[in-house]
Amino acid sequence: MSRPAPQKTLSASDIRARKGADPLVCLTAYTTPVAQLADAQCDVVLVGDSVGMVLHGLPSTLSVTMEMMILHGQAVARGVNRALMVVDMPFASYEDSPARAFANAARLMAETGCGAVKLEGGRHMAETIRFLVDRGIPVMAHVGLTPQAVNAIGGYRVQGRGADGARILDDARAVAEAGAFSVVLEKVPGALADRITDEIDIPTIGIGASAGCDGQILVIDDMLGLFDAFKPKFVKRYAHLADDAARAIAAYADEVRARTFPAPEHVFGEAPAAQAPGTTGETGA
Ligand code: KIV
Repeated sequence: MSRPAPQKTLSASDIRARKGADPLVCLTAYTTPVAQLADAQCDVVLVGDSVGMVLHGLPSTLSVTMEMMILHGQAVARGVNRALMVVDMPFASYEDSPARAFANAARLMAETGCGAVKLEGGRHMAETIRFLVDRGIPVMAHVGLTPQAVNAIGGYRVQGRGADGARILDDARAVAEAGAFSVVLEKVPGALADRITDEIDIPTIGIGASAGCDGQILVIDDMLGLFDAFKPKFVKRYAHLADDAARAIAAYADEVRARTFPAPEHVFGEAPAAQAPGTTGETGA
């Protein structure tokens, strides 16, 4: 019997080498079946700390824990074959010292099998990024709007407008120089994203940034229309699964109340009277 050829898993170096080439397709995933769907199309599957908001109903990403990232990382790992799997470092797991960042990043890699970690922050995280990269941990950086800093920033607002653009450009340069293999640019003006993409030598992954970035990422529950607590302007809904699910659940509830579900084809009868010796009769069909 012929088997499908084993696929090469993309590494952080493969992703870095795609600077300026065809766009990198990236999505988040948090479960095995969704990771399988994403893996079929994506270069990077990110186990984002957005999991806290979209799957656990938390008001922000701040209370996401290492244990949550490991559990979802392990689930996603079972669904990813080809894409580079990146796991987010949760808030308070890396900011206070490079040594602590290394211990937690190493734990994420060892316990999930991910190929890289992502952490938020620009110049002030450069030393930590260098520390991790020098010790064999590929790092995806994340600048612009950094949701873990929502309280310091004062909301999920666009970053880098006007004179503030110089700060975001400096952040992007700093993480590239520190050895990050790519950088997420979140919610920054398009012209700034294009300038950063031109100036740094690692791929930029845009979310609410510019089509000129080296790649794009979206939260999968947002683009599938599964998470509709709110919809940022940068989200395009490619499906409306929450509406489909609500319709399906309402139809099920109606049929249960009307006793039209289960129908004859969903229930089991007695085993046929004459059974050949050694057969079990019930097949489940
Ligand atoms: O947590 C997340 O899903 C992210 C992406 C939005 C980039 O950081």
